[in-house]
Amino acid sequence: MCGIVGYVGEREALPFLTEGLRRLEYRGYDSAGVAVLGPSLRIVRASGKIAALADRLRTEEPNGTTGIAHTRWATHGPPSEANAHPHADCRHRAAIVHNGIIENYGELKGELAARGHRFASETDSEVLAHLLEEGLQAGKSLADALASALNRVRGTYGVVAISEDHPGRLAAARLGSPLVVGIGRDEYFVASDAAAILGHASGVVHLKDGELVEASAEGYVVRSLVSAPVDGTVERLEGTVAGLQKNGHPHFMLKEIHEQPDVLRNVLRGRVDMEAGTSILGGLRDVGDRLASLDRLSIVACGSAYYAGLIGKRMIEEWAGIPVEVDVASEYRYRDPIVTAHTAVCAVSQSGETADTLAALREAKRKGALTIGLVNVVGSAVARETDAGIFTHAGPEISVASTKAFLAQVATLALLAVHLGRRRGLPSASARAILSELERLPRLIASVLEQAAAFRTLAREYGAERDFFYLGRGYGLPLALEGALKLKEIAYVHAEGYGAGELKHGPISLVDAAFPSLVIAPRDSVYEKTRSAIEQIRARGGRVLALTDEGNADLDGLAAQVIRVPHVSEALFPLVGIVPLQLFAYYSAVQRGLDPDQPRNLAKSVTVE
Ligand code: AGP
Repeated sequence: MCGIVGYVGEREALPFLTEGLRRLEYRGYDSAGVAVLGPSLRIVRASGKIAALADRLRTEEPNGTTGIAHTRWATHGPPSEANAHPHADCRHRAAIVHNGIIENYGELKGELAARGHRFASETDSEVLAHLLEEGLQAGKSLADALASALNRVRGTYGVVAISEDHPGRLAAARLGSPLVVGIGRDEYFVASDAAAILGHASGVVHLKDGELVEASAEGYVVRSLVSAPVDGTVERLEGTVAGLQKNGHPHFMLKEIHEQPDVLRNVLRGRVDMEAGTSILGGLRDVGDRLASLDRLSIVACGSAYYAGLIGKRMIEEWAGIPVEVDVASEYRYRDPIVTAHTAVCAVSQSGETADTLAALREAKRKGALTIGLVNVVGSAVARETDAGIFTHAGPEISVASTKAFLAQVATLALLAVHLGRRRGLPSASARAILSELERLPRLIASVLEQAAAFRTLAREYGAERDFFYLGRGYGLPLALEGALKLKEIAYVHAEGYGAGELKHGPISLVDAAFPSLVIAPRDSVYEKTRSAIEQIRARGGRVLALTDEGNADLDGLAAQVIRVPHVSEALFPLVGIVPLQLFAYYSAVQRGLDPDQPRNLAKSVTVE
């Protein structure tokens, strides 16, 4: 997810562009840049946060009344000035900024290079600048040149273009990534988030997928990519900048929980090959031979990423038949792990900067393991230091508590398990069944999110609790551990994740009417055993909040409350079952007057040991 802004009118563009980038910095902040059309096209870019670009602009202030700007969340190509947007064409007369993923950029790049285009970056987005150039050189209008470029693209985009060929004009289009047009007086604003426009225009047009806008100081036209006119409805823009950055949610955490259906779509985009019945993981292409001869996989991670790794272990062992051990990273590096030439070590990390995980990774590398990074932040230390990797495409996660990042890690591990499995005898039919169920999950997750208000009510009912057991078996155990961590870290409740089968071996002594238990009990292969744990709790007067799947009324008489989510296969249940646990923790924190986004004592990325 990146931040995009554009301006065309009669005033200098730069002030709006720099202020707009600051308002959108939460969308991505590993590099940024501006392009302004004055006497000629001027582009200024910088790696790092917006402040680094602002420093550059103090000495290189481009003047002009048409401009575009971009703050990047890298998906292809590490953060660097060369990979920062805007990207220019070969003539350095046209520039684009892009938010999204171009799935067929490889073939487009090859075609363009064969026609003599010279590329200056490793990004997928740059192909748009060169496709635009070809349209402009064919004499097309800016809008038509952009439309013809986009008609070659598979993937998603929010894109804005300007060119010396058409001074005083700007064109923008969207497919899958948001774009808003601010309607000013003889000036127009474009942004990936209305927060950037607030205070500059009172009316906005939310472009719909497949729509394109062309604007100049004289006016604007909204049309479809195939030139059909479109009636762009102007809506009133209200609210505060902070509120808009959270898409109207009170906290980033709730916004990120609700983003999860789209996050899962982003994780899967371009990686599901139903014809071959496998997952396509381009970042593993160069280590295919070593993957084929693995005899052991170690997963090293911390916190939520560690719990995602526990789920990944079961998937990989079940579908690929490779023994998997999962270590808390801070333990792995000190236990003199056994590593052979056929060992792979996978570091799972949202930030890619967690000190314990990095230390474990370096120890594995020192011992000769094949190292794989499963990270969210492109260009992070883990991404740079591993032999191969898979990006989780969760987008920036602002809230300290891991929610969409955890979901993306589990889904990415599922793709890895299928990828490895298909090399080791997993039938294509089984792989297709897993992949098609993964593709159905965004809609099922969305249906759980529609119940959000019910979890606020539950949080109130349990608002006075100081202790909680979170119990599960099989795939339910890592889910219990992650759910308990959420309640601990943002609501400060002592929630303990435990194996439901282990309760009777001691911990049950804690159970009484004042010590509730949340039990994860979908109708899976261990349901009956988990049910008996519920009965053990009830026999001691303990209260049970059960999480099960729709259609299961079996627990209604046993549990005080029952949360039901859509039935999914056992291995994929965590991707749906985690949502109620996230929402329960979120509302429990809010119920207690706490700030879920910035819990005490915590940091988003623990870069110290
Ligand atoms: C989870 O809610 C916490 N924020 C924390 O446990 C986190 O998962 C852990 O610190 C690992 O971070 P990473 O994924 O960036 O490596």
